[in-house]
Amino acid sequence: MVFGRKREKLRLDPENIPAHIAVIMDGNGRWAQKRGLPRTAGHSAGSEAFQRAAEHLSDLGVNYFTVYAFSTENWKRPQEEVGAIMGLLDRYLHKAIREMAQKNIRLRFFGDLSPLSDSLKTLIAETDSISACTSGMQVNVCLNYGGRDELTRAARQLAQECVRGSLRPEDISEDLVSARLYSAGIPDPDLMIRPGGELRLSNFLLWQNAYSEFYFTDTLWPDMNEAELDRAIAVYQRRKRRYGGI
Ligand code: IPE
Ligand code: IPE
Ligand code: MG
Repeated sequence: MVFGRKREKLRLDPENIPAHIAVIMDGNGRWAQKRGLPRTAGHSAGSEAFQRAAEHLSDLGVNYFTVYAFSTENWKRPQEEVGAIMGLLDRYLHKAIREMAQKNIRLRFFGDLSPLSDSLKTLIAETDSISACTSGMQVNVCLNYGGRDELTRAARQLAQECVRGSLRPEDISEDLVSARLYSAGIPDPDLMIRPGGELRLSNFLLWQNAYSEFYFTDTLWPDMNEAELDRAIAVYQRRKRRYGGI
């Protein structure tokens, strides 16, 4: 457990730590541009911020940490930038494979992984097998992920089950839809954090964020340090979650 001075100052309630935190890791490009660096340097700094955040949230007792790393829309970016992001992912996975067991972190991937390179797919398969033996915080990396794509796939799967006769349309429930999403079996995010100043979801966890508490900040992702994350959790702890009740 790490009890930094900053955290003590914020007095986080240890009984009300969000079980699941989702983050749209946005603002890497602007972070680099502000420093006169290429955008790819921002992604590299963003990858370090992600690793620090994962360790901090694990120390706080968060059970699930879901991060938006690459959207179904991000393929529109210049090829060099896409390549640099995939290269960083490759490097991160090599490191994760060495450290996951020791740090007791489980890694899962949400998204359509089919267009990824064979080497990334092999690394992902390796992290999957290590994850079967670890029991700590689960990190879900959303990669070639889109909320609409995820829901479309679930709809297609349900339709196929109906055509095959294993499911009747009238039996389709919210639980059956949830069970066909990448996040099957995982509780919805309690807190959704978007750094980088944009006030939108950008196709992130459209179903799962139905009742999440949202925290938006102008801080750019590479600058989201432990104190900034604690601030978001402190704001979350002051919210009243009513779920439509009174
Ligand atoms: C988020 O940072 C990382 C990805 C989308 C992969 P951006 O690259 O979108 O950074 P900004 O928004 O341009 O600053
Ligand atoms: C959202 O950021 C996607 C990720 C952080 C992976 P974007 O930078 O792609 O979002 P928009 O384009 O500003 O909506
Ligand atoms: Mg962006």
